[in-house]
Amino acid sequence: MSNPAPSVTKLFVKTFGTKPDALYQAPGRVNLIGEHTDYNEGLVLPAAINFHTIIAVKRRDDDKFRAVSAAFPGIFEWHYGDEGSMSEDEGWVSYLKGFTSAMAQSGLPARGLDLAVIGNVPANAGLASSASLEIAFGTAINDTSQLHLSPLAIAQLAQRGENHYVGYGCGIMDQITCAMAEAGAALLIDCLDLDCESVPFPDDLSLLIINSGLPSIAHSTEFGERRLQCEQVAGHFGLDTLRHLSLRALQSAEDELDPVAFRRARHVISENQRTQSACRALEQGDIARLSKLMAESHRSMRDDFEISHPAIDTLVELIAEVVGERGGVRMTGKGFGGCVIALVEHELTDKVIAAVEQQYPAKTELEASVYLCSPSDGASRLD
Ligand code: GLA
Repeated sequence: MSNPAPSVTKLFVKTFGTKPDALYQAPGRVNLIGEHTDYNEGLVLPAAINFHTIIAVKRRDDDKFRAVSAAFPGIFEWHYGDEGSMSEDEGWVSYLKGFTSAMAQSGLPARGLDLAVIGNVPANAGLASSASLEIAFGTAINDTSQLHLSPLAIAQLAQRGENHYVGYGCGIMDQITCAMAEAGAALLIDCLDLDCESVPFPDDLSLLIINSGLPSIAHSTEFGERRLQCEQVAGHFGLDTLRHLSLRALQSAEDELDPVAFRRARHVISENQRTQSACRALEQGDIARLSKLMAESHRSMRDDFEISHPAIDTLVELIAEVVGERGGVRMTGKGFGGCVIALVEHELTDKVIAAVEQQYPAKTELEASVYLCSPSDGASRLD
């Protein structure tokens, strides 16, 4: 997106015949490591990226919302607290309605808004385009209705909206990252107590995201299935989540567990350990260790959690071949398609891009896009 402010203002003026009061932004996110651990009250290490959703808003004197998007046709309207139930035809608007519905359920007051949305976070790529939309919107309402909610509270409302209105049982990693990340750093989130700590991103690494060209389908039934399998294993041990189950306890009960559920839990427990170790490796600038941990994470997603795809595995393998121990590579996000993240020494960046361009289409008949990103700030008002 070159400079989105004039375009979103133009869309607003064209739709509503008046100028907006203010513009708000929220970024997309990429996860460095810690996949499918958030809804298990585990650890995640994402970063916000320099792809954004921008919303232009004007406060109304009533409780009505009117929303328009540059990417989809139609103007959508609803009243605060009267969102009805989610309808498949609403698409992107359901994330906004989910947010106002969660607010109203919490008893918060809010004024209506006219709003126009524009964004460049790739959709269905596992880069949290929906959380980015929710958080840009939540940040706008918080400000225009003078609610003084913390970024964490906005993230929690957004997650509640997705869970209850949209009907998607996501964890909270995406919403917290879009709301709270800091430029130049990854964010270690402990999803048990929601404690967040910025982990500086090393100066000597490039952050590459490689979009496989295979969509990571938004609300796949596989996601809900994985979540349930994790809950079943936790339940077997009399626990609510897998956070405090040790690998040893899991292994000693292997015979009592369904073999698939056992592998799902092994992924989550070992991924928490890898996330903790990856944080230390980043802090110490130990790239060889990071490389190993990211490779293990990918294998665990592929073999134990079974959320990868042959084309994604091909992409990971061909990049790993170029970077060796001088960087790490793994699938990122919910999986079943989407993107690969590669953290590589700067001088390898061009070699990685060349390898992807030369080998990936021939091996998979797919085209990949490479984004050179920088860890960015969370949501804010744009002045
Ligand atoms: C999706 C969900 C997140 C998280 C990831 C997997 O992005 O929205 O909460 O579970 O998948 O790590």
